[in-house]
Amino acid sequence: MTATTKDHILIFDTTLRDGEQSPGATMSHNEKLEIAVLLDEMGVDIIEAGFPIASEGDFKAVREIAGNARNAVICGLSRARFMDIDRCWEAVKHAERPRIHTFIGTSPLHRAIPNLTRDEMADLIHKTVSHARNLCDNVQWSPMDATRTEHDYLCRVIGIAIRAGATTINIPDTVGYTAPRESANLITMLLKEVPGAEDITFATHCHNDLGMATANALAAVEAGVRQIECTINGLGERAGNTALEEVVMALKVRNDIMPYSTRIDTSKIMNLSRRVATVSGFTVQPNKAIVGKNAFAHESGIHQDGMLKNPENFEIMRPEDVGLAESSLPLGKHSGRAALKAKMKDLGYELADNQLKDVFMRFKVLADQKKEVFDEDLLALMADEGTMAAYDKIRVRELRVVCGTSGPQTAELTLTVDGKEHSVTATGGGPVDATFNAVQMIVPHGGRLALYNVHAVTEGTDAQATVSVRIEDGGHIAMGQSADTDTVVASAKAYVNALNKLLVRREKTAPAQ
Ligand code: KIV
Ligand code: ZN
Repeated sequence: MTATTKDHILIFDTTLRDGEQSPGATMSHNEKLEIAVLLDEMGVDIIEAGFPIASEGDFKAVREIAGNARNAVICGLSRARFMDIDRCWEAVKHAERPRIHTFIGTSPLHRAIPNLTRDEMADLIHKTVSHARNLCDNVQWSPMDATRTEHDYLCRVIGIAIRAGATTINIPDTVGYTAPRESANLITMLLKEVPGAEDITFATHCHNDLGMATANALAAVEAGVRQIECTINGLGERAGNTALEEVVMALKVRNDIMPYSTRIDTSKIMNLSRRVATVSGFTVQPNKAIVGKNAFAHESGIHQDGMLKNPENFEIMRPEDVGLAESSLPLGKHSGRAALKAKMKDLGYELADNQLKDVFMRFKVLADQKKEVFDEDLLALMADEGTMAAYDKIRVRELRVVCGTSGPQTAELTLTVDGKEHSVTATGGGPVDATFNAVQMIVPHGGRLALYNVHAVTEGTDAQATVSVRIEDGGHIAMGQSADTDTVVASAKAYVNALNKLLVRREKTAPAQ
């Protein structure tokens, strides 16, 4: 079990569970494994790898992550049901350090869902936590919607969970309702009132509906919590969860007033942020704290002048502290394999020889289309490489589009579906519309295009365009992304990427709540 000292804060990452639960953020099996390895290497103490009963895919991912983990505790989520807890244990038991996390909604609103009285729910908590503890000696229990649960009842059920063997009690602010002072007061009250509270670890799990998740988590730490639950880029349902990079950097930069340590190697933050943005399809807003594109950019003359005189004038942390390499010279069509390999290493990608061969070929095509290939271009290229490799049921083989002032616009498209080529010609109210109609003719899917977004990766008319697409189909949502110097090609690839994810999503069967 992970030991806590008075001043040490455990970082519990739930990107692969609460983050992936966010509509449209589906990750493939391999992407989940890759993110878990990066989290483990970065020094995350506990990785919540998934919700094993949710689907066969979730179960397999948690089981494999558990088998691969080197340092982190691997945790799976389960509802307050024996069947869930058993399935969770089956998935995490292969980890060197497994944890079962079980939860139930304890607020009046949530108690009404299973229609249990206070006493009936208390009894269920005792039985399910005891059951989990009989399987595993590291058990976390969460009273979901804790911040809207009556204090007397919250104290009572936490006491029951501790007596039943829970080793960590997590206090979720499920709907992002609390505020910093209230968050701290709640923890102070629980530590004082609940018998046995001093023998276990308390955790905080905040959602960002009112934009206070980071502040609420830090306030809870000051009141005595020693585990923060968070996600990379704050990924998560609705407005997301506490962002890992924000709490970790706040504790590092303001260690003078918050003297707590974590095990996180902060120089790995940027790379993880980019990978999570790519695989989830949730791009990071430019002005996002710590990991946004502009987080370290100084545009105004006064700021630039001040920075040149002394970076501390306008910088409270250095870009390299979060793994942002100083911007270096762009590559071009004469750059060789060794230069590309070195640059990729700076950007956080260690390319094996055969991968370098593929990436180099794609780089050469790009360098023929663009005079200068910037870091952002290479990151977009790698993002594309990742999505193409992960979802290969449907792939764009060839696209030719006729467009101009007089329509109709026409798209001749060839896709490979399960390795077999299919070609069609379609028309539409513009080149992108014609292309999407062509995809629909080859793979009729019934989904609705809910978002179509284009942005330039760098400046200039030869810039690559990154296209994001969201397809919705009943309860299923899938995001796709791709980059290319040709906006219509990027659009076709992004649409196909989303479609591949939609097919994966349909295979998943969400558990009834
Ligand atoms: O937000 C929440 O309440 C949760 C629980 C399952 C811990 O994610
Ligand atoms: Zn949550």
